[in-house]
Amino acid sequence: MAIEKKLFGIMPSGEEVYLYTLKNSNGMKTEICTYGGTIVSSMVPDKNGEFHDVVLGYADFEGYLKGDKYFGSLIGRFGNRIQYGKFILNDKEYVLAQNNGENHLHGGLKGFDKVVWDAMIIEDEPNTLELSYLSKDGEEGYPGNLAVKVKYVLTEDNALEIIYMATTDKDTIINLTNHAYFNLSGHSSGDVLDHKLMINADKFTVNDKFSIPTGEIKDVADTPMDFRTLTPIGKNIESDYDQIVFGNGYDHNWVLNTNCSDTLKAAQAIAENTGIVMDVYTTTPGVQFYSANFLDGLDVGKDKAIYKMRNGFCLETQYFPNK
Ligand code: GAL
Repeated sequence: MAIEKKLFGIMPSGEEVYLYTLKNSNGMKTEICTYGGTIVSSMVPDKNGEFHDVVLGYADFEGYLKGDKYFGSLIGRFGNRIQYGKFILNDKEYVLAQNNGENHLHGGLKGFDKVVWDAMIIEDEPNTLELSYLSKDGEEGYPGNLAVKVKYVLTEDNALEIIYMATTDKDTIINLTNHAYFNLSGHSSGDVLDHKLMINADKFTVNDKFSIPTGEIKDVADTPMDFRTLTPIGKNIESDYDQIVFGNGYDHNWVLNTNCSDTLKAAQAIAENTGIVMDVYTTTPGVQFYSANFLDGLDVGKDKAIYKMRNGFCLETQYFPNK
C-alpha cells in the first residue's frame, strides 16, 4: 500500500519535518516522523479486531521538539550510558557530553533523536521507508563521519522491522536502537504492571546505582530479573533487590541467549485485556528493558494522555552499554 507523506512541523532553523504513514492490508498503521526518526503512533488490532495505538507519544511536532523522554526516537550514536562521557579507542581518549549526571546518555546533547533525517520511500520494496543521516566527524565528540541508514518496514504479518546500517571513515563506536515506549492496552491506558513479559536471557549486566554496568554479568535465576518465562512486569517491581532499587524499577541490559548471527526471539510482551502480543526479534547481544521509571506525569501526550511512571515499557535492542 502506498506510503503517505505530510508536513508535520518546521524546525526553529526553518527545516521541514515530515510525517510518513505506513499501512498494511490488515489495517495496521504506523506513523514515522523525520525528526528523530520517531515512531509517532502504531495502530494494531486487538482480539476483537478493534484498533489501539500502542506507542506513547505527543499529539504534535512541538511536543517532540520540547520532549526529553525519547518517545519513539531513534537513538545514536551510542545507546544508553557511557561512564563519565569518556572512552578510549586506539589509545586516544574521546570526551563526550555528560548529559546524565556525570555520564553520557543516548548520544549526547543532540543525539539522533533530535536531528532531522532525510526520508526516501523505497518504491521496489513493499512498505519501506528509508531514513538517512550523516553524522559529521566530531559530532557530539564521536570520531569519524558516520553515514547512517535506518529502514522501517511494515509487513503484511503486522511486524514493524527496523534495519540499521552505518558506514564510517574512521574507527569509531556505535550502538543504535529505538526508544519506543509500548503499552499494549493502548498508549493512554495507565500502567503496564499487569502486562506479561518474557526475555530470552539467562543473564543480565549488573548496574551501579547510577545505572552504569559495572562489568559483572549475573544469572537471572532466583532474582527479580528472571523473565525467562512470561511474568507480570509488576510482580517484583517493588522488590528491595539492589538492582531494582538502583533503577527504581527495571532499567537494565539483559544478556540475550543469542549467537548474534541468527535472528533471536528476544522478548515477548502480552496485554491480556486486549490480547495484543508483541514479539521482539533481533540480532543484537542485548536488550534494555526499561519500565518507564522516569515518566513523571509532566508529559501530555496524544489524546491528552498524561504519562506517569510505568505507563509504558521499552525493549531497546542494543550492544551492551558502557563498553
Ligand atoms: C533508557 C534508560 C533510562 C532513561 C531512559 C530515558 O534507555 O535506560 O535510564 O534514561 O532511557 O528517559
